[in-house]
Amino acid sequence: MLEINNFNKSYGKIIALRDFSCKLGEGVYGLLGPNGSGKSTLMNILTDNIGRDSGTILLDGQLIEKSDKQFRTLIGYMPQYCEMIPEFSCIDFLNYMAVLKGVDNKTISPQIDYLLKKFELNDVKYRKISSFSGGMKQRLMLIQAFLGEPKIVLLDEPTAGLDPKQRVFVKNFISEQSLGKTIVIATHIISDIEHIAHGVICLKKGETVFCGAPSGMAEIAQGMVWSYCGNSDELNALKEIFRIIAISGDGEKTHFRILAPSKPPESAIEQKPTIEDAYMLLYGDAQ
Ligand SMILES: Nc1ncnc2c1ncn2[C@@H]1O[C@H](COP(=O)(O)OP(=O)(O)OP(=O)(O)O)[C@@H](O)[C@H]1O
Ligand SMILES: [Mg+2]
Repeated sequence: MLEINNFNKSYGKIIALRDFSCKLGEGVYGLLGPNGSGKSTLMNILTDNIGRDSGTILLDGQLIEKSDKQFRTLIGYMPQYCEMIPEFSCIDFLNYMAVLKGVDNKTISPQIDYLLKKFELNDVKYRKISSFSGGMKQRLMLIQAFLGEPKIVLLDEPTAGLDPKQRVFVKNFISEQSLGKTIVIATHIISDIEHIAHGVICLKKGETVFCGAPSGMAEIAQGMVWSYCGNSDELNALKEIFRIIAISGDGEKTHFRILAPSKPPESAIEQKPTIEDAYMLLYGDAQ
């Protein structure tokens, strides 16, 4: 169990994290929030890339001191912006990362082979990283995060730039890997964590606006989600009064998904809320 208590971090006058606390057990956790909400700051503090102003970390009840090397060996990290050595081949890069992580080269070889095949990079393993597409680099960074079977895996926007097939693959892979690990995914894409997250943490301007189970997050919007079938020319009038969160049409009629504290038009039907609805409720007004 990883316990984070009262993290605070400011960059000058900008408060990036305010009194952040949470408990993370085994499983997948979604760290949600719009641009600038503090997701990467949290991950950078946990990986000791940046210092925190205050706060403590406990692993299984033991206090982790700043720059604790032992703790860092337990962490796998995929940063949001990948800095790789372009002259390295894919396989050299992974061997290099294994050395940096202190994992024995021989022990790691079968794991690298397995992951390269799994992420469909085996055929290009001798190619220089400079020749890789954005999605290939992204997959390579994901592989290195899982090298050496880390107990805590922090993934900062892991599916950015991936095509839909790879996005689904990565999501399934993360879910498979979560047994015996704590995996935190920072994202703004709800579908990345839907159905695989055990917990969700929502940040807004450095503050936690929700922390709990996905079902609990959806419940925030209980009694506030409505479907209404009308004409497309009603859109502007509805938009004036209510928050429209989705619009779809079947040629004749237009279907509106509306977020409103009380029943919007008389014929509107209440809907079971999703975490996407809750996200719109938490973040729909201002970023
Ligand atoms: N090195 C820095 N110097 C000054 N301010 C910073 C620095 N890094 C982050 N910030 C500020 O801290 C806040 C949180 O930024 P952070 O990168 O953690 O957000 P994020 O949730 O990861 O955003 P995104 O979704 O865009 O990646 C923002 O207001 C940002 O401008
Ligand atoms: Mg970020």
